[in-house]
Amino acid sequence: MTKGDNMDWGMKNRISRIIKPDTGRAVMLAVDHGYFLGPTSGLEEPGKTIEPLLPYADSLMLTRGVLRNSVCPEHPVPIVLRVSGGNSIVGEDLSRETLTVSVEDAIRLNVSAVALSIYVGSKYEHQTLRNLSTLINECERYGIPVLAVTAVGKEMTRDARYLSLACRIAAELGAHIVKTYYCEDFEKVVNTCPIPVVIAGGKKIPEKDALKLAYNAVNDGAVGVDMGRNIFQSQDPVGMIKAVREIVHKKGKPEKLYSSLKLGKK
Ligand code: 5RP
Repeated sequence: MTKGDNMDWGMKNRISRIIKPDTGRAVMLAVDHGYFLGPTSGLEEPGKTIEPLLPYADSLMLTRGVLRNSVCPEHPVPIVLRVSGGNSIVGEDLSRETLTVSVEDAIRLNVSAVALSIYVGSKYEHQTLRNLSTLINECERYGIPVLAVTAVGKEMTRDARYLSLACRIAAELGAHIVKTYYCEDFEKVVNTCPIPVVIAGGKKIPEKDALKLAYNAVNDGAVGVDMGRNIFQSQDPVGMIKAVREIVHKKGKPEKLYSSLKLGKK
């Protein structure tokens, strides 16, 4: 510890629960999908899905409702609480999100960070960026890190130009971590973003490809993953999260780790 390191002690302490100081990397397990998708495939009974995966997750990203009802409060896993919502997959516009949880309640739930989506370029862009700014202002008072998720509307292209724009705006507004998608020229997204970047896995893809995605992302500068469907929708969810851990924290090779999965015959 050097002089000045006592500044923002709570903020640094909470970030170190998510981005592990020994490797500088993070394996976050995302199970917050129900906030706009309802009973997502693989998360119909969240508690049953989450329980076997918990020992391998550095942190768990989820909503207040699933946290209270499906996670044992005695489990030491750090929580990244989703605090935006108010939209649904069948609603008027997915980008129309609001803040759903007070910072006071997040503190009561002893979270390590809060997460919120921004929809840059969408109809409700301004509202979601205001949500982010309001949340950051409030969280700074208590030393709670804010993770911004760069949600991508159906009409948006997930390319480096767009994702750099969205990540950079999140960082400029004061987010502490940003979650985005992997894309071609991903180094550009990371290099132009002054805060740590984690990637979402996106829709379920073959396990081999999902492991390569995690490998490429950390190789190109991401501090880790905040992955959901490619873990819990796999035929071997525990095998997948263990393989992702090896890649993120130990630079494991995807091909070798893929062969260790118990995938059975298709
Ligand atoms: C949705 C989210 C989800 O957590 C997210 O997309 C997670 O994971 P995956 O894409 O890997 O299923 O933030 O906005």
